[in-house]
Amino acid sequence: MTIRRSASIAAAALFTVFTIPRQAIRAEQAGADATAPQLTKFEKAPQGEAEQIAQIIALTTQLLQMRYPEGMARRGVHPKDHGCVKATFTVDRDIPENYRVGVFATPGRTYPAWIRFSNATPFLAPDLGKGGPDSRGMAIKLIGVEGDTLLNEPGAKTQDFLLINLPGFAFPNVSEYLEVTKIQLANHDDIRPFFAQMTPEKEKTRAVVAKIKQTNVGNPLESPYFSAAPFLFGPDRVAKFSVTPRSAEKTPVPENPGTNYLREAMKKSLDPAIGKPAVFDFKVQLRNDDSLPIEDATAEWPETTATPQNVATLEIDPQNFDNPFQVTECEHVAFTPWHGLTAHQPIGGINRLRHGVYIESSKFRHQPKEPTGFPKWPW
Ligand code: HEM
Repeated sequence: MTIRRSASIAAAALFTVFTIPRQAIRAEQAGADATAPQLTKFEKAPQGEAEQIAQIIALTTQLLQMRYPEGMARRGVHPKDHGCVKATFTVDRDIPENYRVGVFATPGRTYPAWIRFSNATPFLAPDLGKGGPDSRGMAIKLIGVEGDTLLNEPGAKTQDFLLINLPGFAFPNVSEYLEVTKIQLANHDDIRPFFAQMTPEKEKTRAVVAKIKQTNVGNPLESPYFSAAPFLFGPDRVAKFSVTPRSAEKTPVPENPGTNYLREAMKKSLDPAIGKPAVFDFKVQLRNDDSLPIEDATAEWPETTATPQNVATLEIDPQNFDNPFQVTECEHVAFTPWHGLTAHQPIGGINRLRHGVYIESSKFRHQPKEPTGFPKWPW
């Protein structure tokens, strides 16, 4: 492994058979033309933020060009998946009255769902690199939701929840994210210079990265996941989302983990012959105290203050997800927190930034391009 690649891996910590019809994928990409979101009454955007967001969107394309010089690009973040699985998402029959909002409006309502498990590393790398564990992702797409949607894509009636395996995101705000993105581009994804001069904001990033490095996962189906950033919960409330596996089982990380050990663990758990369903409780943490931050995505909301409430059950039945058809669809499908109902509008600076960036990354990787060479595999 080259020095550049291992530095990059250290940096990376920061970061039925279901068919998604082609028209739906095109419809979701069409959201690229949507204009920037209106600020909600809960948000305060610092001066100059819109300009910084525009810069990050432009840098995202440049980063993809740098990483994929031969032309066949993957996702800007979370390019390596462990599998896309079909699931069902059922609103709890006994969901308390005041949580019946948006996709949770009807007790007992079931949605088919598509879930993609991933690593956050911005490039393809073994699941456990020399630098230790990276952040893990779980992206959930509910299909056939009802209500006004945010991006106004024709035909798209989906609600995405993008979750990571810790309750705090690694960067508090847009200006910190701009700084790290410039450094990624200048240093081939080696972000160590970002920490050259520590500030209180960078201390927050360092603290989250330390947690990521202490949080390894033996099987993606056995980890909790968190939205980290906040969302509207109807017009007058704000919430964060999370999921918790119902089983306490914890598969140990293998002593010599293979390149794709997380996919292998998932395949074993969901083996149609010997596997069993993976069940998660989906939770909502209402912002019941004005002191809980909205504009700092590293800030956890203490569960003692804002108690998570079970609102839905997510069930993944045993299945063969590791087949060429599903692997291809997994690469094509696009998730963004902005695929969803206006009732669950993403809020806060990091979410405002995600509006344009995910669309740009998805647009770039989906555009037809003739390769200039054969893709370079890291293993
Ligand atoms: C609370 C903060 C965040 C969380 C929880 C989060 C989570 C995720 C997850 C789980 C995925 C994988 C989606 C999939 O499986 O397709 C993803 C993708 C992605 N994220 Fe984030 N993310 C966060 C912040 C950001 C920020 C600040 C940026 C950059 C501005 C960013 C850029 C991206 C990009 C470019 C993709 C790939 C989009 C595509 O090509 O489809 N994320 N994120």
